[in-house]
Amino acid sequence: MYRNTTCGELRLADAGKTVTLAGWVQRTRKMGGMTFVDIRDRYGITQVVFNNEINRELTEAANGLGREFVVQVTGKVEERSSKNPNIPTGEVEVIADGFKVLNRSEIPPFTIEDNTDGGDDLRMKYRYLDLRRPCVRRNLELRHKMAFEIRRYLDAQGFLEIETPILVKSTPEGARDFVVPSRMNPGEFYALPQSPQLFKQLLMVSGYDRYFQIAKCFRDEDLRADRQPEFTQIDCEMSFVEQEDVIQTFEGLVKHIFKYVKEIDFTEPFPRITWKDAMERYGSDKPDIRFGMEFVDLTDLAKGKGFSVVDDAELTVGIVAKGCAGYSRKQIDELTEFVKRPQVGAKGLIYVKYEADGSIKSSVGKFYSEDELRAWGEKAGAEAGDLLLVMTGEAMKTRKQLCELRLEMGNRLGLRDKNVFAPLWVIDFPLFEWDEETQRFYAMHHPFTSPNPEDIPMLKTDTGKVRATAYDIVVNGTELGGGSIRIHDAALQDEMFELLGFTPERAHEQFGFLMNAFKYGAPPHGGLALGFDRFVSILAGLDTIRDVIAFPKNNSGRDVMNESPSPIDQAQLDELELELKPIKK
Ligand code: AMO
Repeated sequence: MYRNTTCGELRLADAGKTVTLAGWVQRTRKMGGMTFVDIRDRYGITQVVFNNEINRELTEAANGLGREFVVQVTGKVEERSSKNPNIPTGEVEVIADGFKVLNRSEIPPFTIEDNTDGGDDLRMKYRYLDLRRPCVRRNLELRHKMAFEIRRYLDAQGFLEIETPILVKSTPEGARDFVVPSRMNPGEFYALPQSPQLFKQLLMVSGYDRYFQIAKCFRDEDLRADRQPEFTQIDCEMSFVEQEDVIQTFEGLVKHIFKYVKEIDFTEPFPRITWKDAMERYGSDKPDIRFGMEFVDLTDLAKGKGFSVVDDAELTVGIVAKGCAGYSRKQIDELTEFVKRPQVGAKGLIYVKYEADGSIKSSVGKFYSEDELRAWGEKAGAEAGDLLLVMTGEAMKTRKQLCELRLEMGNRLGLRDKNVFAPLWVIDFPLFEWDEETQRFYAMHHPFTSPNPEDIPMLKTDTGKVRATAYDIVVNGTELGGGSIRIHDAALQDEMFELLGFTPERAHEQFGFLMNAFKYGAPPHGGLALGFDRFVSILAGLDTIRDVIAFPKNNSGRDVMNESPSPIDQAQLDELELELKPIKK
């Protein structure tokens, strides 16, 4: 037997027992005739003591232990004289009377502790060592617990977990596909699924009216803190449901997870907001409603006073930063620089300070009288001591820019507390998005999303205004998940493809199998998918989903540990009948 206790288990009540532990050497300290060795495993850390007076030979051998050696120790549990209140085993130590080195270790490239000296790249290269750190391990434990609770909830609701293929047909779904060449069918390719969307709809046609899967998805898109090229979805679909049924079921799931994983009880229904309101009030379809600072439309008040920037603009809109009238020149300059960064892309920032003494200071004092600026403040709800920040320009662009500033101010003012969770549903998304560059409509969600039945008559006449029966669930400014009621009528689906610019031949080539299936009694159906990595990272209070994935990719889509992607042998290329073009720089 390698061990009969773990390194996280021993307490004062165990004093007097003889135990055997196995684990990694966290550190050794020599003090006089004694050597203290901290031994770590998945469960915790236990202090082991080697004493010269008890066994000189053993103590000398222990002095040779290096960091991360794997050892097995036997000894007696004793109460510690100087206790460590910071760890659960801190009241006891094990007085060693025997140990064995199970394996040696090279000196690790960084310290394996929460507070490590290893930078990001180094830790990713040695991810298997990084995973030994308790803070990383806790994230994976949380992930496991959540996956377990998700299955428990969905099983109780009658959902079946069904796997769908990973080698699928390449279909235009939104992002770029990762493709896999087929040796048995030279010149042909599979794609990795961007999501199991079509398969889950087919399962509805097959009568599996409640499906779910914790599914791997693959998208070749630009990466960000909340995006990985391969990620996991809690993917779900239901038959004989309307939007309300889907929302109720998955609001229930999210509440279940908060309750059983985080001990947070949401007793009220999650708020709902239409996409249009979300854009007007927060400049985002994924608003962070942990704090207010809602947008105030100042267009009418600001126009027509001879300030051309505002006069020429479609929208002038502001937010009130409470208690910030005292912002220095430097702080205002920082905010201006912030909105001018290419990621935000604004030309400038207007401010109005409503000073505590009732006076007003503004960057546009030349163009507006104090009374006029006071009227802005009244409309915006600014009080003495507040700062009004205003942006102006083309409506949608300006809203998105002000959204970035609002979030930045939220950060600066400490209003985005990681321990506060503010979920909401965003509903009534537009069905289509117009793309200036290609001069055509794209499906905002995907081509299988049902239009809002009220808007079907407008499909051809007022395409851009048609609302979808689509919904997103948002938590703390992150899109946690999204879904829709699907089109189950083949004729309406044909019309959709046509509006999206597919010829009937191309639609058939891409989605023929789905269209065929719809000829055999497709039930009304709908569903949604929650981003599992995002869900875990929100609950863990982390800024990036990389920290909740055991072996993540970096921002260039590389796994720096196994050095993939990597070239393949000529023999492999030959087998696949592939030839590489010279790489363009
Ligand atoms: P959607 O594309 O909105 O919907 O994806 C659902 C959720 O998956 C998460 N997500 C990601 N997480 C990490 N890295 C990525 N690259 C990434 N892309 C998406 C997000 C997102 O909300 N088939 C539809 C769902 C449906 O209609 O049922 C779909 O995939 O949290």
